Amino acid sequence: MVNGRGAEGQGSVGARFPRPETSEMNTKEMMVTEKKRTGILGVGKYLPEKVLTNADLEKMVDTSDEWIVTRTGIKERRIAAKDEAASDMAVKAARCALNNAGLKPEDIDLIIVATITPDMFFPSTACQVQHKLGIKKVPAFDISVACSGFIYGLAIADQFIKGGMYKRALVIASEKLSAITDWEDRSTCILFGDGAGAAVLSQVDKGGILGVNLGADGDKGDLLQLPAGGSRMPASKKTVEDKLHTIKMEGNTLFKHAVKIMADAALAVANPLGLKGDDIDLIIPHQANLRILNALAKRMGVDPAKKVYLNIEKYGNMSAASSAVALCEAVEEGRIKRGDTILMDAFGGGLTWGALIIKW
Ligand code: UT7
Repeated sequence: MVNGRGAEGQGSVGARFPRPETSEMNTKEMMVTEKKRTGILGVGKYLPEKVLTNADLEKMVDTSDEWIVTRTGIKERRIAAKDEAASDMAVKAARCALNNAGLKPEDIDLIIVATITPDMFFPSTACQVQHKLGIKKVPAFDISVACSGFIYGLAIADQFIKGGMYKRALVIASEKLSAITDWEDRSTCILFGDGAGAAVLSQVDKGGILGVNLGADGDKGDLLQLPAGGSRMPASKKTVEDKLHTIKMEGNTLFKHAVKIMADAALAVANPLGLKGDDIDLIIPHQANLRILNALAKRMGVDPAKKVYLNIEKYGNMSAASSAVALCEAVEEGRIKRGDTILMDAFGGGLTWGALIIKW
């Protein structure tokens, strides 16, 4: 056995599932594919109560509201309570999504949590969410993909559902970035916030996920990292003194990569579907920087005011939770309607990226 696939190995797997050849069969296949698409049945979010404004930050580090707004578009962000961890926020967003979908926790048979701020290394945040929701036995796991985590999570759930292994998945992105922020570093602390977003996925008869593009570029990992606390640099008095348990970022270099990578990912998913900027009703991007999003809109040839959903002003960058919360708010505000074509697009530490097109 090779990876459980049988002695013939990976190369022959495709040969065991020949594609239909006649045009009649192709039509049938397309109909089946159409029927078996994965859609989003409900969305949810949770934002902690505490608001940290730019004026508050002016008292903490050498910065100004004017600098933060012009360079990033952020006016305020939410900060979780001391005793509020990623799983607590995740559960609240999940309950909201279940409610929106008209489902109960026991209807879920797969839980995926995207987070880079898990409650602890293990057990996973997803297992804690499963326990707190009172769901028994179903698989639950975390994914560590930084800001692209929600889109990776949706893509993974899509595969499990299309493959027939699970029926209804809960995909949650929850981040308590305030716990890993250096509150004395003005180049990073003005950017991040806390929050959680969730979606319930299932097979749908109409619409659903049309395409996904995921990618990673590990050789640029040092542009955005949390150096200590893992097996390479376990926690010690020195790592704490040197603040190596907080986010280190080369913002300027990342900025340039972000604009190109987000545009490339968007085109990589849109082009094979024959979709152009005009065909997209709304872009739900990761909210890293308003200037990045304006540049993305320009490259996609769309009007940012009409076609790019923005909430960075209220929440800052919440890593994976940013696109999840943005999706939820766009639905709540009526910016997404049945039949709309939505592009989700994210970029972040890893480096990683993910773009997904869904017909609502
Ligand atoms: O979530 C996914 C990944 N994240 C990103 O993609 C983030 C991408 N990067 C960015 O959003 C931007 O690079 C930042 C917002 C982080 C920084 O903006 P920038 O326009 O790239 O500024 P910079 O780093 O080039 O710094 C310009 C100046 C520097 O001063 P000097 O050297 O020109 O005198 C900084 O020291 O701004 C200074 N600066 C600040 N000034 C006031 C840096 N942070 C601050 C601050 N307040 N908070």
